[in-house]
Amino acid sequence: MIFLKYRIAEQKIKGIITKNKSTTILQDVVDVLYESFEKYSWVGIYLVKGDVLILGSWRGKQATEHTKISIGKGVCGSAARSGKTEVVDDVSKDSRYLSCFRSTRSEIVVPIKKKNSVIGEIDIDSDVPSAFNKTDEKFLEKIADMLRQHI
Ligand code: SME
Repeated sequence: MIFLKYRIAEQKIKGIITKNKSTTILQDVVDVLYESFEKYSWVGIYLVKGDVLILGSWRGKQATEHTKISIGKGVCGSAARSGKTEVVDDVSKDSRYLSCFRSTRSEIVVPIKKKNSVIGEIDIDSDVPSAFNKTDEKFLEKIADMLRQHI
């Protein structure tokens, strides 16, 4: 039963991506992710522009001051550099972490890749400690793969 939420969200996102020809795809996907999982407290998509990440669409209670992050800096920049998903169970224990919201306890960053280079990433903050498990990782990697053609 617990996996049903992921399946439903995946179907909704598939629908957005296959049917929607508008420019709101990234925002629509962010909205589905934010609305589908209570533990996803802030959801954003960053886009790689040269050697920086620029915040594209986002949804959460507050805006972040980190709208531009150098590749290699923070958890986001690390994932952009390595091309690997980063899961931080306790942000207070990760020296790379760039703080955005006082309430954040854990974070996941999933790179969006095209031909092996990182073109963007999904960044999710949670107010719940250790919020992101293997199911979240696999699910978000699938979504990142679907977004590849729309960035
Ligand atoms: N925490 C991120 C910065 C982005 S905010 O979470 C929205 C980082 O360490 O790179």
